[in-house]
Amino acid sequence: MSNRAQFVTKMGVIAATVGSAVGLGNIWRFPYEAGQHGGGAFLIVYLLCVFLLGIPVMIAEFVIGRSTHSNALTALQKLKPGSSLSKVSYIGIVASLMILSFYSVVAGWIMEYLFQAVTGGLSGHTSEEYATLFSTFTVNPWRSVMWTLIFLLANFMVLRRGIEKGIERISNIMMPVLFVMLLVFCVNSLFMPQAKKGLDFLFNPDFSQITPKVMLGALGQAFFSLSLGLTCLLTYASYFSDKTPLVRSATVVALLDTLVAILSGIIIFPAVFSFDMEPAAGPKLVFQILPEIFQQLPGGYLWSVAFFLLLFFASITSTISMSEISITYFVEAHKMSRSRATGLNTVIAMTFGTLCALSFGVLSDFKVFGMTLFELFDYVSSNIMLPIGGVMLSVFVGWIVDKKVVEEQLTDYGARKITLMRPIRFCIRYVAPLCISLIFLYGLGVL
Ligand code: TRP
Repeated sequence: MSNRAQFVTKMGVIAATVGSAVGLGNIWRFPYEAGQHGGGAFLIVYLLCVFLLGIPVMIAEFVIGRSTHSNALTALQKLKPGSSLSKVSYIGIVASLMILSFYSVVAGWIMEYLFQAVTGGLSGHTSEEYATLFSTFTVNPWRSVMWTLIFLLANFMVLRRGIEKGIERISNIMMPVLFVMLLVFCVNSLFMPQAKKGLDFLFNPDFSQITPKVMLGALGQAFFSLSLGLTCLLTYASYFSDKTPLVRSATVVALLDTLVAILSGIIIFPAVFSFDMEPAAGPKLVFQILPEIFQQLPGGYLWSVAFFLLLFFASITSTISMSEISITYFVEAHKMSRSRATGLNTVIAMTFGTLCALSFGVLSDFKVFGMTLFELFDYVSSNIMLPIGGVMLSVFVGWIVDKKVVEEQLTDYGARKITLMRPIRFCIRYVAPLCISLIFLYGLGVL
């Protein structure tokens, strides 16, 4: 343990974990999922999932990671040799590579928009032109593939520099700035002509819209946004120091992450209704709306450049964390050198990322279960693998790990008194495994 890296500063722990959580999941995926699943109805279920299921699962990941200071597979085996639940680490490795693949495509779109913003291509167009901008860009296979590969190369280079320097330095500076920018955009959206309609859509739930499908979508989104279920935060927690306050860190990360998602909704939906667009437009939603928003802001050129730049950094702090799952595993379980492991991770993601990028163009007719490759990777990882991982991790910490180890972790080795110890353990033991399983089975139509 002594020669593994640790987060150097106290701030670094929260900043890097928030850096993992806050990303395209909040700013791109949350509005599009909420838009497709009835707005307010989705938001309510989403919030319940974050607080009743997400925080307990996050704490469970932290407990496993910090008590063992190891990669996921070794960590689970250390805590309970021979447990079949340690297979969750394979789900984590496969699903994180799937997410990295389609996520890099969207991050590539961000880079294209950054490029367009810098070269002035994002200003002075009509709504139709902004819509065409997105579709002509994404069907053009080579441009989209090129940006996906460039993004993965950038991800590779940050990872090569090791955990504390690369990750901490970037996320410490960028996240607060992004946050302030989102606040400014929020205020701007509140003054739009159809602001009320947009806010109603997001905050006024129509309970009849809460279907099993909406619930599974919200659960998947909550876990995706909090980086849960794939042992990503377990891996991060293995670098925590013994003094890191576990419960408080999990709560702060979840609150900040949720705040960013809601801010993003407050920015997007008033604009959707004011510009007469469709909230259920899907993955392209924010890419059509954001340029319109920047267009009517004073100094829109600078806002758009700064925003896409920061979003690029938010994306890369998230992809770094996903990559860390398989890299740590290759290094510690297969004794690969860090640079080889990083290379392998990048090559796999480049291969599947290219296929996902092409699924908007030449591969758009190639469908599995009625979904393109991009949609399939997104759906299977978020709505199937994350919930299964979440159940396995909460069952492991709730039922298998020695109670003493759990309490030692929750109290930070006895340094703190945790008033909510029993409710937290109750959620990890009962609420999380049961509710996640039920939502999962109902959502898939099995029950
Ligand atoms: N949470 C990130 C986002 O919202 C994505 C992410 C990073 C993730 N690491 C993960 C999702 C691990 C699932 C598992 O953009």
